[in-house]
Amino acid sequence: MAINSSANTYQKVQAFAPATMANMGIGFDIMGLAFQSLGDIVEVARHDEADVVIVDIAGDGGKLPRDAHKNTATVAIMAYLKEIGCTDGFAVTIKKGLPLGSGLGSSAASAVAGVVAVNALLGSPLRKEDLLPACMEGEALVSGYHADNIAPCLLGGLLLVDGITPDCVLRLPIYNGIHFALVTPNISVLTSEARSVLPQSISLKTMIKQTAGIARFMDALHRGDWSALARAMEADEVIEPARAHLMPYLYELRQHAKAHGALGLVISGAGPTLCAICASDDVAEKVAIAMSDFYRTNGLEAMSFATQIDTEGARVISAE
Ligand code: HSE
Repeated sequence: MAINSSANTYQKVQAFAPATMANMGIGFDIMGLAFQSLGDIVEVARHDEADVVIVDIAGDGGKLPRDAHKNTATVAIMAYLKEIGCTDGFAVTIKKGLPLGSGLGSSAASAVAGVVAVNALLGSPLRKEDLLPACMEGEALVSGYHADNIAPCLLGGLLLVDGITPDCVLRLPIYNGIHFALVTPNISVLTSEARSVLPQSISLKTMIKQTAGIARFMDALHRGDWSALARAMEADEVIEPARAHLMPYLYELRQHAKAHGALGLVISGAGPTLCAICASDDVAEKVAIAMSDFYRTNGLEAMSFATQIDTEGARVISAE
């Protein structure tokens, strides 16, 4: 598809894309949700040259690539421009709200915010769900081809994602009343490292247990039974045991969070962020503070916050 971008109205658009949690514990590479409040902002502006350049990146401590061919946001933007047949040039500014290598979908958020911004700037030639493949190209640079962060980041909510095209995304029901407490210790875990420690095969017995865990997750979700949901999320016997050594104090924090009222705790994505499932905002606030205090007592700096599911996903926050 070729478009006439000069017919469109905007010169500069900013988009926000939320933090996400992949896996939900039991659903490795096939489930994810978006969190309220935290996220990345990407601004895309027209410029005179026919290429995509990065003007500035804030909030990454200088760690992310400034080369547009190596950054998730600009690679995703270039994939989008190629898809729609647009050869215009764009200047991109990235404001990182999410810590890198944290298990909160940081690379996905930059890719999604970039594509949502440039699509809006060009007059939205593609529907939101059709932005998924271009966003995926950015995320694939650092995480490979699985859309369990990209899809909820783009579309919001709690999603089942069993492929990388829009038809592979199923929106799961969400009932009010599920809250989360997140804690991110001040260490970074590369997704590539967290994937390299995973087993390449599992026994039939383990496969049956994992399948049962997913079935219990779906049942609990449809009944709005958050205790059963948390138990199902924790039932993973494949991924968590293989990654536990990369997550400081995982098992101790699970006990600590539960002692403060949490229903369960899982690794968020590839970690090291840990996510406690809670039945109220009050409990989530208390658990978040208790978890970061626990890390500090044990010599690790950590940030924590209480949040809920973001049902909207990435959105334009300014256009001029
Ligand atoms: N499902 C992915 C993983 C998420 O756990 O490795 C991180 O990209």
